[in-house]
Amino acid sequence: MVYSIILACAALVAKASAECSREFLQGATAAYVQAQAAGDHSLPALASNISYLENDAVKDVKEGILSQAITIDFNRSLHDTTQCATFTEISAATNKVPYVIHTRMLFTDEKLTTLQSVVAHDGDWAFNATGQLYWTKQEKWDPIPEANRDARDVIQAAGDSYLDSWSDGTVKVPYGTPCARLEGGMYTGASNPATNTCFMPQFPEKFEIKNRRYIIDEEVGGLDIFNDFPFIDTKKPEGTPSTNFIRVEGGKIRYIHEVTVCTTRNCGR
Ligand SMILES: *[C@@H]1O[C@H](CO)[C@@H](O)[C@H](O)[C@H]1NC(C)=O
Ligand SMILES: *[C@@H]1O[C@H](CO)[C@@H](O)[C@H](O)[C@H]1NC(C)=O
Ligand SMILES: *[C@@H]1O[C@H](CO)[C@@H](O)[C@H](O)[C@H]1NC(C)=O
Repeated sequence: MVYSIILACAALVAKASAECSREFLQGATAAYVQAQAAGDHSLPALASNISYLENDAVKDVKEGILSQAITIDFNRSLHDTTQCATFTEISAATNKVPYVIHTRMLFTDEKLTTLQSVVAHDGDWAFNATGQLYWTKQEKWDPIPEANRDARDVIQAAGDSYLDSWSDGTVKVPYGTPCARLEGGMYTGASNPATNTCFMPQFPEKFEIKNRRYIIDEEVGGLDIFNDFPFIDTKKPEGTPSTNFIRVEGGKIRYIHEVTVCTTRNCGR
């Protein structure tokens, strides 16, 4: 009995120290976007001792994309108060070198400890920053009224089933109607905006999508899954840096943004 109370208290403490406020996280994503615009890798006021991964490779943050000042045309973030973590999508179509950047940030005691970015540019999967910017700006990712919000596990399960379905066509994916996918700069919803154009047929090979890392924001029904995507890159069949940024409404997928990095132009396809 005493033992179980101690366990319960320990769980509470662990939970309390992982969680943080939405306001704190919103300040952090705003500071991150400003730092990227300024090319300020010191991430003023956020950083303590950062482990940094860029396109799945360990890198010194001073040598990464954050050391370049980038003209940012649009940005959208998720704030995960349960994990004290964030996700940000940066659209930089008018920058001298156009980029689309997906970044996750993890905090411990309100200090940034883990920074991971997937940085896509010309030659990456279906890359077209002009198209990406155009379509993301058309989408509505407004807060979902509190009574209609999905639970974290519902949001995560929707995204997981989408990824699982790529190599197992029997997996049921809760696609919404409408549903649209922004794959690089290509928009499936361009010609049929009222329908579900997200459906992905089973790939011709069996594979397992590993190293899934989740950021979940119930307020906007948002989910991002960083993952190692096998098969697509002919030079890296074991898995290439990829992320899927998903909006779920009423348990159903509404939008998917995919950013995938290639070792050779368009992953050799
Ligand atoms: C920084 O983090 C690494 C890995 O988490 C750890 O090994 C190291 O001791 C830390 N350094 C400082 C100065 O806290
Ligand atoms: C990022 O997005 C926010 C919210 O839409 C906006 O207020 C801010 O100006 C944007 N930042 C940059 C650098 O574009
Ligand atoms: C990129 O997208 C824009 C806007 O949709 C389109 O006008 C342009 O032709 C595309 N560029 C390429 C190289 O496909």
